[in-house]
Amino acid sequence: MNQLLHCVFPTESAIPDQFKIRQPVDQREYLINGELRTWTGSLNPVLSPVCLKEGDELKQQVIGNTPLLTSKESLEALDAAVKAYDLGHGLWPTMSVTQRIEHVEKFLQAMRQKRDEVVKLLMWEIGKSLKDSEKEFDRTADYIIDTIKALKDLDRNSAKLIEDQGFMAQIRRVPLGVALCMGPYNYPLNETFTTLFPALIMGNTVVFKPAKYGVLLIRPLLEAFRDCFPPGVINIIYGRGRETVGALMETGKVDVFAFIGTNKGANDLKRLHPKPHRLKAILGLDAKNPAIVLPDADIDNAVAECLTGSLSFNGQRCTALKILLVHKDIVDTFIEKFKVQVKKIKPGMPWDSGVGLTPLPEPGKVDYLKGLVDDALQHGARVVNENGAEIVETFFYPAILYPVNDRMRVYYEEQFGPVIPIMPFSDDEEVIRYVVNSNFGQQVSIFGTDSKRVARLMDAFVNQVGRINLNTQAQRGPDSFPFNGRKDSAEGTLSVSDALRVFSIRTIVATKNTDSNRQMISTIIRNRESAFLSTDYIF
Ligand code: G3H
Repeated sequence: MNQLLHCVFPTESAIPDQFKIRQPVDQREYLINGELRTWTGSLNPVLSPVCLKEGDELKQQVIGNTPLLTSKESLEALDAAVKAYDLGHGLWPTMSVTQRIEHVEKFLQAMRQKRDEVVKLLMWEIGKSLKDSEKEFDRTADYIIDTIKALKDLDRNSAKLIEDQGFMAQIRRVPLGVALCMGPYNYPLNETFTTLFPALIMGNTVVFKPAKYGVLLIRPLLEAFRDCFPPGVINIIYGRGRETVGALMETGKVDVFAFIGTNKGANDLKRLHPKPHRLKAILGLDAKNPAIVLPDADIDNAVAECLTGSLSFNGQRCTALKILLVHKDIVDTFIEKFKVQVKKIKPGMPWDSGVGLTPLPEPGKVDYLKGLVDDALQHGARVVNENGAEIVETFFYPAILYPVNDRMRVYYEEQFGPVIPIMPFSDDEEVIRYVVNSNFGQQVSIFGTDSKRVARLMDAFVNQVGRINLNTQAQRGPDSFPFNGRKDSAEGTLSVSDALRVFSIRTIVATKNTDSNRQMISTIIRNRESAFLSTDYIF
């Protein structure tokens, strides 16, 4: 192993003071019905992907514990949410939009005070670089601000009566009920809050279970959740998925299931609900986004975009480019340039300046990736870059695999890590077949300059995936754009404004446009007799 990887993990004394975790975070609190309860039962140790050198050994660090609640506490959380919703008559679902916005603004203010704590835990829990952890926090705060703005726009557009075919009516969006929100470990703050806050602000009550990893970082926000929302509106539970969340689904009392994770996990949980027709699901699931590099592509741009597309946060993004289909005429040049750029990415610890490769948080992940690489080698691929697939404890150095074919697992499986399969192609039909036959349908990137050829591919993909990126990597943002997927990749569409829609339903008050009805409606509005039927305009 070369010196670079040998030194990837530091000694404790080499960690800058502001990033040290001096005491493991022993978290026992969970939030039910506006009360922070203390758990005295068993705890789940939180292992950081970061290892530290202790003499000749590397030791993976335990940075804290989280409560291993049981189905009992989980059901108590659900009861609190059900009670707060009160079949739609609770304080929160009947509160005015302006008041709900005030609660969320108060939370945002409190959340901002915790930026440093949350960012530090993001680095230690999931190995995300300081820069990306800060970006995740700030993007989340911006998302909440944009959500408030979008809700004001939505409400303003509803603050009027419409007339059609002899009817007059007012249409407003109202909540759906009790939502269960679960996020992924790679964006444990951002992606979770992109469903949690739309759900809350639309008047739903929520049970929130943090991701598998990236759990402690919610701890600094628990008091803010408790203080900024009425009791029972937001309940936060911890523990093993099947025991806690499974029990919730079995009750049939969950109305909305917002889940970002694997399609297997989503299927297992959804089928536990006894009344599937009453369960609305918003799911962000697996993806295997391909990049297609045509022979006339601007190769430096394609290399740069494929590099960040496949390797930012070590490839642990649902939107990452997970296979590169490169035309045979340029594949050798592409690989040479790609290798040079991979070599420039700095491996290290999340707080190291300029770091681009960090250790992986999922237990067993390096072995899984090694298995994928070994399988590809057995079927004719090579690791073409220096140090590719080298492992030091939780650190896996990116492996560029070439040439990849359809007998290899990496052709189909979502690696969600730093393995970059490159498959050469000679005919555009081959790449069309790859996308059409894939079980996933999130995004695709096309790199090329021949407008006719690009347009043909683009049109071949519009009914296959949710987003086609031209000469750019796949990604979710800007958050105003619709984010979805087809096949096993997603259910429902998220964006700042779409999320408000998916967590609500339109309700109409309608009447025949007669003198007496007009008069009654006008009296209700003038005297502010109804919260729903109103033309009040939010400023
Ligand atoms: O993991 C999936 C995320 O939604 C990706 O978001 O494209 O902004 O990294 P991103």
